[in-house]
Amino acid sequence: MTSSYRCALIGLAAITLLLTGCSRGSDISGGATLALEAGCVACHGLNGRGTAPTFPNINGQHASYMYEQMKRYRSGERVNVIMNEQVKLLSNAELDLLARYYAAQ
Ligand code: HEC
Repeated sequence: MTSSYRCALIGLAAITLLLTGCSRGSDISGGATLALEAGCVACHGLNGRGTAPTFPNINGQHASYMYEQMKRYRSGERVNVIMNEQVKLLSNAELDLLARYYAAQ
């Protein structure tokens, strides 16, 4: 009785660890809302497809690549008058969420 109870507890703990471990870094809920609020959708759409030929498709692009590019736009290392403005006020966490959101589209 005691050992099966302990077993169940350990099992529960393992499942909890597994669930929290998997959701961290891959949870993109809130990404669409942020893309709307930050205005990304005007040019990249909600689905990451450029709304005009001058706006790149970013759906399915690697999240790590997009995250780095947005940080480069923010620091001014990568120069583009549009994108430099777009990411100016966004935090690392917000850039990370947007990158993972568009990567998953
Ligand atoms: C007014 C239009 C516009 C808006 C709004 C906009 N972008 Fe962009 N985005 C562009 C253009 C144009 C480029 C290409 C810039 C260049 O040549 O470096 C670009 C480039 C990018 C890139 C790099 C793509 C690559 O292949 O290197 C990413 C990532 C990106 N945008 C994400 C976003 C996100 C996230 C937002 C919202 C915070 C956003 N953009 C808002 C027009 C826009």
